Amino acid sequence: MKNFALKGDIIYTPEPGKFRCHEDSYLVCGDGKVKGIWRELPERFSGIRVEDYSGKLIFPGLCDLHIHAPQYSFRGIGMDMELLPWLETYTFPEESKYGDLEYAKKAYEIFTEDLRRSATSRVNVFATIHREAAVLLMDLLEKAGICGFAGKVCMDRNCPDDYREEDARTSAEETRKWYETVKDRTMMRPILTPRFLPSCSDELMEQLGKFQRETGLYVQSHLSENPEEVEWVKELAPWSENYGDAYDRFGLFGGTAKTVMAHCVYSGKKERALMKARGVYAAHCPQSNLNLSSGIAPVRTMLEEGLHVGLGTDMAGGASLSMLRVMTDAVQVSKMYWRYLDKKKKPLSAPEAFYLGTKGGGSFFGQVGSFEEGYEFDAVVLNDASLGTALDLQMDQRMERAMYLSGTEEITAKYVGGRKIFERL
Ligand code: GUN
Ligand code: FE
Repeated sequence: MKNFALKGDIIYTPEPGKFRCHEDSYLVCGDGKVKGIWRELPERFSGIRVEDYSGKLIFPGLCDLHIHAPQYSFRGIGMDMELLPWLETYTFPEESKYGDLEYAKKAYEIFTEDLRRSATSRVNVFATIHREAAVLLMDLLEKAGICGFAGKVCMDRNCPDDYREEDARTSAEETRKWYETVKDRTMMRPILTPRFLPSCSDELMEQLGKFQRETGLYVQSHLSENPEEVEWVKELAPWSENYGDAYDRFGLFGGTAKTVMAHCVYSGKKERALMKARGVYAAHCPQSNLNLSSGIAPVRTMLEEGLHVGLGTDMAGGASLSMLRVMTDAVQVSKMYWRYLDKKKKPLSAPEAFYLGTKGGGSFFGQVGSFEEGYEFDAVVLNDASLGTALDLQMDQRMERAMYLSGTEEITAKYVGGRKIFERL
């Protein structure tokens, strides 16, 4: 891949607390990586192609650490329940349809096209239990230019007959077959995906742990999202110290198995300490936590304790695909946490939330989510000119406004790993 540059108002967060701004500058890409940012193009880059986005914001591609592709069709409906009845009533019946590849294709095409046009460049995505549909989802995402990890979901208990793998052995075997098909992919890579502890028998967890040790696969799942779920896990795994420990006993909680856990709303001190010790990422999904009345995750505490934290939509727990929206949701719920739960926990600022949605979560994928030299060239161009104001704004204010106000129309172009995958002409 040759060198090229984007010209515009470049903004990113190399550290959590503050935006770094380069007005009217050049962001140079070489071999899919960031080379640097300059006010004037250095001599050695003279003559390279320049894409002129003057006056527009350019920021790192956003990282959705937790999203369910097969739930996209029912986003924005069925918001009247908490997690466990919501899964039974809306989620499992919809996901069971993906055994039909024609339906899967129709639904996943809608999902991937909308994702391509969004500001998201990297995802950790859940498919369904169906091996072929999971491969299809990976095909479509790669064709759309999206990078990240995708998982065939594993579940063999506590779910309806028509949406359950027959037994632990079948689930593990299907997972192996799926892995063989997709193991050499470089854009959408496979990730081990036990749905959550209540839907995976001990035997299945053992087999998945063994498979993880053979392959080195990363792991994604759910953790401590809802009070009834947490109580249920205590019944199902009485031998565990906490929900996270239950995964850990099977070797599916970080360490050599790099792991991301969605939610962590009810992760107590001990569970968080284990997350920290094992390097487990928390995918904070504030909009989902509001819609399913789950609660508010102790994000400030996690950050103070030095945990890895990123953001996720948790589609369709979250109804919006927009990670800019999720950033503002994270700010807003942190204010309610401060107001109602703990006055010592300062709410998140806009640049802190932006950091979580870019470099914070991005590190799960490698050098992702920043414009420092050597980072993957993931960049979004956003036209905030249509977001009218009489004010003469600073760049950090423009970015904050874009987080709160912009929709899909403002996204002008997107690059992932140096490839332009979307442009609004
Ligand atoms: N826990 C287990 N499965 C799910 C799911 O699909 N969505 C959410 N939000 N939580 C879960
Ligand atoms: Fe989820």
